[in-house]
Amino acid sequence: MENLESLKAELLTQVNTANNVKELEDIRVAILGKKGRITELMKTLGTLSQEEKIALGKGLNILKSEVEKALSDQKSTLETKELEAKLAAEKIDVTLPIRPENQGRLHPISQIYEEVVAIFGQMGFSVAEGPDIEDQFHNFNALNMPANHPARQMQDTFYIPNPDSDDFDDSFVVRTHTSPVQIRTMEKKELPIRIVAPGRTYRSDYDATHTPMFHQIEGLVIDKNITMAHLKGCLYDFIKAFFELDEIPVRYRPSFFPFTEPSAEMDIGCLKTKTELKIGAGTDWLEILGCGMVHPNVLRAGGINPDEYQGFAFGLGLDRLAMLKYGIPDLRTFFESDVRWLKHYGFLPLDMASMTGGLSNNGGAAR
Ligand code: PHE
Repeated sequence: MENLESLKAELLTQVNTANNVKELEDIRVAILGKKGRITELMKTLGTLSQEEKIALGKGLNILKSEVEKALSDQKSTLETKELEAKLAAEKIDVTLPIRPENQGRLHPISQIYEEVVAIFGQMGFSVAEGPDIEDQFHNFNALNMPANHPARQMQDTFYIPNPDSDDFDDSFVVRTHTSPVQIRTMEKKELPIRIVAPGRTYRSDYDATHTPMFHQIEGLVIDKNITMAHLKGCLYDFIKAFFELDEIPVRYRPSFFPFTEPSAEMDIGCLKTKTELKIGAGTDWLEILGCGMVHPNVLRAGGINPDEYQGFAFGLGLDRLAMLKYGIPDLRTFFESDVRWLKHYGFLPLDMASMTGGLSNNGGAAR
């Protein structure tokens, strides 16, 4: 038995002085492995008398469990030490400037979103939001497009079944435009209204200038005595600020939207050549947005008395604005998540668009 006591002291010293996890594992094998010290002693039990066998067997089992406990304690001590050493060695200085080649970029749509909101924000508009999944009332009916109205066919709608109803009129849609936010804002019953509503919109369409998911920004102003002159002035100021030009030719063409009357489309002057599109000069015209005076039926649907209040509304495609302003030829590339594309067309993220600091002075492709 004395034998076992000194063996125990020896083995525990070995275990407790192991310098790292690897060394500890070698020690464990040398003690408990197939040819380990304790295993070898266990093998001798068969040659002993019954009494000796019981005594030594018991002693060895106790020794074995003591060694196992020491091994596991030492293992966690060593692991903690190794982790601490690793963490200390891997320390990074977060105040170091990022390497330019590793810096992330803002997607052009995010950039355009910031720019447009900065401009309208300065004019006194606030930002309103609505859900991507809409009911037909907000997306169509309240916007003067009752069921079976031919105007619904202007928009290639994605419908979503309503789990609680088999009636097609109860099915939902992914909103085909941001105009339902007009109704949701009117329903809040806070007048006057001066909002822009940017967000995602969906139509079944796919080519170089159309993707099934795209982005619009809606504008809505409602107050007493609002006229088309307010609409024109507001949009003219917007378009100059957006394209960062002092002068820009614009024209309004009569158009049709069920939710505005009269309705118009705004064109801006440009020069189109085979290789270039120059905005703000030339004899060509480019359609840029849809707008009009809010239809009395829409005001009524939103709970507003059209004899007392009037308003104007407009809607424009953010993706299209991004393509025009930053010369990006194919809309589909916007949503391919290609980092090389983002590096080329993206914007420095910490340099936010603002009316005082500049709208697009941080652009990759813009510079
Ligand atoms: N909702 C229209 C569209 O998606 C745009 C629009 C909005 C037109 C507001 C007039 C007024 O085409």
